[in-house]
Amino acid sequence: MKIAVLAGDGIGPEITEQAERVIAALAQDGLRIETERALVGGAAYDASGDPLPESTLKLCEKSDAILFGAVGGPKYDALPRPKRPEQGLLRLRKHFDLFANLRPATVFPELAHASTLRPEVVAGLDILIVRELTGDIYFGQPRGVRTNEAGEREGFDTMRYAESEIRRIAVIAFEAARKRGKRVCSVDKANVLETTQFWRDIVTDVHQQHRDIELSHMYVDNAAMQLVRNPKQFDVIVTGNMFGDILSDEASMLTGSIGMLPSASLNARNFGMYEPIHGSAPDIAGKGVANPLATILSLAMLLRHSLGQEAAAQRVETAVRKVLAQGLRTADIAEQGKRTVGTREMGDAVIAAL
Ligand code: IPM
Ligand code: MG
Repeated sequence: MKIAVLAGDGIGPEITEQAERVIAALAQDGLRIETERALVGGAAYDASGDPLPESTLKLCEKSDAILFGAVGGPKYDALPRPKRPEQGLLRLRKHFDLFANLRPATVFPELAHASTLRPEVVAGLDILIVRELTGDIYFGQPRGVRTNEAGEREGFDTMRYAESEIRRIAVIAFEAARKRGKRVCSVDKANVLETTQFWRDIVTDVHQQHRDIELSHMYVDNAAMQLVRNPKQFDVIVTGNMFGDILSDEASMLTGSIGMLPSASLNARNFGMYEPIHGSAPDIAGKGVANPLATILSLAMLLRHSLGQEAAAQRVETAVRKVLAQGLRTADIAEQGKRTVGTREMGDAVIAAL
């Protein structure tokens, strides 16, 4: 089994290095797995003028899964859109048709204090956001800036969803719910937007084949409010690309530790790209203080979803829980005044706990 490692920018290289060390430890124990690195994002732009060079795509194509760090940084903000680091990410999603984005938000008991919400509101939280990732206003055409009939310049994007796109993500959500709390909440803005009324109709229709799962619908503004009011009411949330982008950032902060949250982006063949939810954190890049646990937990998701290595996945997750129980904390999840460890030390601890 081969994993393409695309570290990217900012803290990306530091955190993926720890995941690579975990992979090496698993390989030593007999898992037949190897890694190969390639450039993406700003790092790739610097080297080749393209945030997703052909050589990187080639490597991903011959791999079984992609482990992704993070992309972006202030240095690249002024570049024309096609050259920006984020384009590397968006093009990878589109190229491999990674339409199913799974973003779990779980609160580790040891870290309930880290949330800005009261511990009793978030303790035991375990929700899964299923975000559609290759459609919606992110990719809809036409888009751009033009001069309108009144002679004024206007910016425009197109929100659109094809029936097949809605059907396949709804199926993913119902199937995911079946392995969890058996409840799906579909989030839309059906009171205003045609596209999302259509979304609601199709999700309701797909539900006919998944009657053992409870389906509810919620408007996105209410969902944003309910997520901070009473987040434990949710099991699986399914929503479109843009609402999912926003709600998943909100949900991650409920856990108080964006540095802990993994994600998976899958296509219909279970090929996937796995990445921490947090970004490239340019402010702490290169300092050896970033939390590598979200990336290591993303590796666990990779082992489970793309490589079918459930036992290895659980081994990695158990090791992470163990180091938290031992009291090891990087700065982002530490209680004030308590001792912290650096990126590499955290990696060492996970490998020891394996
Ligand atoms: C995410 C990010 C990306 C997105 C950006 C970096 C393009 O915010 O993965 O949530 O908007 O999808
Ligand atoms: Mg986002």
